[in-house]
Amino acid sequence: MKILVLNGPNLNMLGLREKDIYGSDSLNDIEKRLAIIAEKNNCVIDFYQSNAEHELIDVIQNSLNKKVDAIIFNPAGYTHTSVALRDALLAVKIPFFEVHISDVESREDFRKKSYFSDIAEKVFSGHGVKGYELALNEALNFNR
Ligand code: DQA
Repeated sequence: MKILVLNGPNLNMLGLREKDIYGSDSLNDIEKRLAIIAEKNNCVIDFYQSNAEHELIDVIQNSLNKKVDAIIFNPAGYTHTSVALRDALLAVKIPFFEVHISDVESREDFRKKSYFSDIAEKVFSGHGVKGYELALNEALNFNR
């Protein structure tokens, strides 16, 4: 099985940005833990983070050629704005799991709208950085 963990804008700043909301783990800390879980499950795992919408779109499109089975995606700020990223996921038809470290429902009104939740296999929001591990376990057990 092949899984892509995709992170959107400002998630490269984890561990530095708004620690009261996002905690003190860096993205690298999170990825290391995910890599261990993946290895134990004979799963090939790839990580990608970008602050640029078009780069995230390109990586989603290229996932078809790379035969990615599932995507774990924290679209970050693009969650609430990006029709283009939604369309990319619909185009490739690769099952994906949406992750938010914070509980987006209980924050500002503009964070309540997600362009992804209705097409995601499952949404993990408000579990802190553990949400990535929950999503990975779900993806590992996912049968289309
Ligand atoms: C986030 C929530 C988004 O509203 C925000 O723009 C982020 C991170 C989260 O993981 O809680 O950058 O996706």
